[in-house]
Amino acid sequence: MKGIVLAGGSGTRLFPLTLVTSKQLLAVYNKPMVYYPISVLMLAGIRDILIISTPSAVPVIENLLGDGSQLGLNLSYAVQDEPRGIAEAFLIGAGHVGGDSSALILGDNLFHGAGFPELLRDARESLDGCTLFGYPVTDPERYGIGEVDASGRLVSIEEKPAIPRSDNAITGLYFYDKDVVDIARGIRPSARGELEITDVNLEYLRQGRAKLVGLGRGHTWLDCGTYDSLLAASQYVQAVEKHQDERVACLEEIALRMGFIDAEACYRLGAGMGQSHYGRYLTEIAYAHD
Ligand code: G1P
Repeated sequence: MKGIVLAGGSGTRLFPLTLVTSKQLLAVYNKPMVYYPISVLMLAGIRDILIISTPSAVPVIENLLGDGSQLGLNLSYAVQDEPRGIAEAFLIGAGHVGGDSSALILGDNLFHGAGFPELLRDARESLDGCTLFGYPVTDPERYGIGEVDASGRLVSIEEKPAIPRSDNAITGLYFYDKDVVDIARGIRPSARGELEITDVNLEYLRQGRAKLVGLGRGHTWLDCGTYDSLLAASQYVQAVEKHQDERVACLEEIALRMGFIDAEACYRLGAGMGQSHYGRYLTEIAYAHD
């Protein structure tokens, strides 16, 4: 399975924070925002990841993460020069996906919760068509919304409905089989001029091959697209890291635990971050790792 992080968009809702820097490089507590979506793909066991971002952000993200080999990953980069919709990721990333299945995640989405790695692995193993991940929200008119029937089957998907049929938001994480590039090539821009990911999902639904996995209690989903949600995300990560002594989206730790790198490599990455808490944590877990 191939991974794509779509970290595009001009971040206008965060001006002036994003006047000269990319939204996905802003801090979410102690690490750049783009670490969070990358961590999700890594937890799903994906190592081949394409990062799509704006012309000005790509060189900076590349400077931060390089080719990913230090994390046992294979990272590549592509530019989306105008925000023309989430589904455009599959036109830009067609060569990267090839004939493989893929997971797409939006660059400002944060997922965390007990059992999340297992849930991702199950979703990957049982993938047949597309798998979407739902999360209950109080403002459903802001999202893609999925409606499930009494047996849990997905029956409708609507993009930002004025009168939502449910409060189940479709989050910015999508698993697709090998057909997604062809399906994305077949959709037309919506009224707002964008290639909507909801239209891709609707095609899978029409084919009877779309599934919605509910992320219920014990899971957290946040996007970081507004001042308040950005702050809330930082506070959430701070609370988990300080009070539960657990790290969220620590890429080096995930790489170690997933077997992508060994303890020595993890130690070196930590030592390279000097006396920061983050660096010290890495050297400690590298020592403790057997
Ligand atoms: C996009 C999708 C929407 C989804 C949301 C998740 O909306 O179009 O279906 O629920 O991401 O973050 P946007 O944030 O581009 O308005």
